[in-house]
Amino acid sequence: MARGTPTHPDTAAGSDDRPANYGQSGHGLRGNYERMRADYTVDQDHGAYGAEDQDRWRRLYERQIDLVPGRACDEYIDTLNGLDYAGGIPRFETVTAQLEVATGWRLVAVPGLVPDLVFFDHLANRRFPVTCWLRDEHEFEYIVEPDVFHDFFGHVPMLFTPVFADYMEAYGKGGLKAEGLGSLKWLARLYWYTVEFGLIRTKEGLRNYGAGILSSPSEIDYAIRSPKPRRVEFDLKRIMRSLYRIDAFQETYFVIDDFGQLFEATAPDFTPLYREMEGLEDLAANAALPEDRLIS
Ligand code: PHE
Ligand code: CO
Repeated sequence: MARGTPTHPDTAAGSDDRPANYGQSGHGLRGNYERMRADYTVDQDHGAYGAEDQDRWRRLYERQIDLVPGRACDEYIDTLNGLDYAGGIPRFETVTAQLEVATGWRLVAVPGLVPDLVFFDHLANRRFPVTCWLRDEHEFEYIVEPDVFHDFFGHVPMLFTPVFADYMEAYGKGGLKAEGLGSLKWLARLYWYTVEFGLIRTKEGLRNYGAGILSSPSEIDYAIRSPKPRRVEFDLKRIMRSLYRIDAFQETYFVIDDFGQLFEATAPDFTPLYREMEGLEDLAANAALPEDRLIS
C-alpha cells in the first residue's frame, strides 16, 4: 500500500489508530516527491536501481517465496507463480500488462506514502499506487513503511483475483465518500484488518491474504499458527471499532470464509453505519468481547 497523510502530520506519530499507512515514520516522508505529477505519480526509473538493490530484492524474494506454500491463500499462490519476480525488481509496465488483462487494474509508481484522497482516487479508478524505492539493508528483517517489495509481493498478486480487485475499487470509492462524512478512521480500520492483515478460512486450514502479512518473514507464520493472537470471524462493525498495532504483530486477526463474503458485507452504504459508530467506543487491539466468534 502507499497511502498516508503527509498533509495531516497530526496523524503521523504516536497513535496506534492513524490511517492505514503502514508506518509513516513521523520524521517527514521518505522518498523523492520533487518530480511527481499532480496525482503523486512518477515514472519508475528502472535503470536507477543499483546492483545492491537488485541483489537485496532477490534475497528478499528468495526468503519469502519459500514461506508462501501452506501459509498464503490459493488465489495468491496461483498468481504469484505467474509473476516474474525472481530476477530482480519488476518493471511496472510488465506487471501492469499482465494485470490489465486479468482484472483491468494498472500499477502506478509513487514516491512513497500519498495523501488519503489521492490514494482513494487511484483505487476508485483501478490504479494501485506502488512505492518505487526498496528498503535499505538494515531494514531487511523489518520495515515500518511500504516499499516496492511490500507492494509488489504483498498487494499486487491479490489484485489479479476479480472479486478482490472489485473490493479494492469499492474501497477507494468508499474512501472518497467517508472523507466527506468525517468517517475515515473507521474505514481505515477495515483496510488494515482486511487488505493488510486479513486471514481466510479454507479446507486446508487458515491462510493469509493480507499484504502486510504476506510480505513479512515472521508474521506470515505467526498470523495463522501462533497460539497468541485472537482470531475472530469477520464482523464489519467489530472491525471498525478495533484499534490496531503498527509496531508489533497484530493481537487480533479477522477471518473471512471467502472473498465474496468480504465484498457483500461491505457493499451496503456505510453512511448509517458511520452514524452508529459515533456512539460506540473504540476497542483495544487485544480486546475480548463475549460475542466474538473465535476461530481455532
Ligand atoms: N459500501 C461502502 C460505503 O458505502 C464502500 C466500501 C466498499 C467500503 C467496500 C469499503 C469496502 O461507504
Ligand atoms: Co500495504
